[in-house]
Amino acid sequence: MMPAMLGTTVTARACANIALVKYWGKRDAALNVPAAGSLSFTLDGLRTETSVRFGPELSVDTMTLDGREAGSKEIARTSEWLDLVRARAGISTRAAVHSTNHFPTASGLASSASGFAALAVAASNAAGLTLSLRELSILARQGSGSAARSIFADFVRMHAGHSADGSDAFAEPIASPLASRVRMVICVVGGGAPKLYSSRDAMDHTEATSPLYRAWVDCVPADLRTAEQALRDGDLATLGTVTEANTLAMHASAMAARPAVIYWQPTTLALLHRVRELRHDGLAAWATMDAGPHVKVLTDDATAETLAATLRTVPGVSNVIISGAGPAASVVTP
Ligand code: DP6
Repeated sequence: MMPAMLGTTVTARACANIALVKYWGKRDAALNVPAAGSLSFTLDGLRTETSVRFGPELSVDTMTLDGREAGSKEIARTSEWLDLVRARAGISTRAAVHSTNHFPTASGLASSASGFAALAVAASNAAGLTLSLRELSILARQGSGSAARSIFADFVRMHAGHSADGSDAFAEPIASPLASRVRMVICVVGGGAPKLYSSRDAMDHTEATSPLYRAWVDCVPADLRTAEQALRDGDLATLGTVTEANTLAMHASAMAARPAVIYWQPTTLALLHRVRELRHDGLAAWATMDAGPHVKVLTDDATAETLAATLRTVPGVSNVIISGAGPAASVVTP
């Protein structure tokens, strides 16, 4: 697609993603480069739509989130990120950003991944840039690490790279026969209440104070190899086993931080036990948790409905959403 002329409004759409092998810690905070790679599943139906217009008449960047003016912290973070796009396009024009999350009610899911992915596609186009998918994922990463993965559909691998400038810290898709069959059953705990600590603050704090942080980072490469092989082989059981083990290692490192970062609520633990029991009974079900109390269960299309019906009965679960694989981020053509 041709890049837009400056002054044109460009709208883009991107889906949320859930990491099966987590990103938790950075090797360069200024460039937002992860300490290790990660691997995720893009979720259909949980998407953000963002429109951007660089307007010569604007004196500052403006931003609305779900129809309301964004807070000063959010505007500052977005504005700083927009500077990267402006520098690349050789412009100093300010932008008007409108971002809307089309997530199921009270999904309790973070929107920074889909948000920065949609913003990267919309803003780069609106600034007249033509970027490769790899460049887009790098740009999205500079906004939020997990956003690099939301540029792509289905299963996605993020690389930490080795370079000092972060140019080899990008995401790319991984083809797998599992893409059409895998489902994520998202169990929302506690009605999607605001979280105590952001993933960004909590991963920095884990890195700075947790005696288990190094061990966590060191376990990621082998987990990535296992997960990638399982994807190639279409082996859901191996993928699920490494998914659950990896999230527990990430949370263990956070819980060992001083003071501790504990995202789990009693319902989180109840769900974790229930998933293990169901698996013992022969169901395809493996749990993963992020920077919040919600439990996302990896399963297949044949099991998702049964699993969702069972997990809905666990006290404290306020909503259960089933999602399949989502599409890549793209410009919404008017
Ligand atoms: C637990 O991508 O939100 O969801 O790069 O600081 O914006 P920043 O962090 P962010 O962290 C996501 C952490 C996670 C795991 C994951 O998605 O890999």
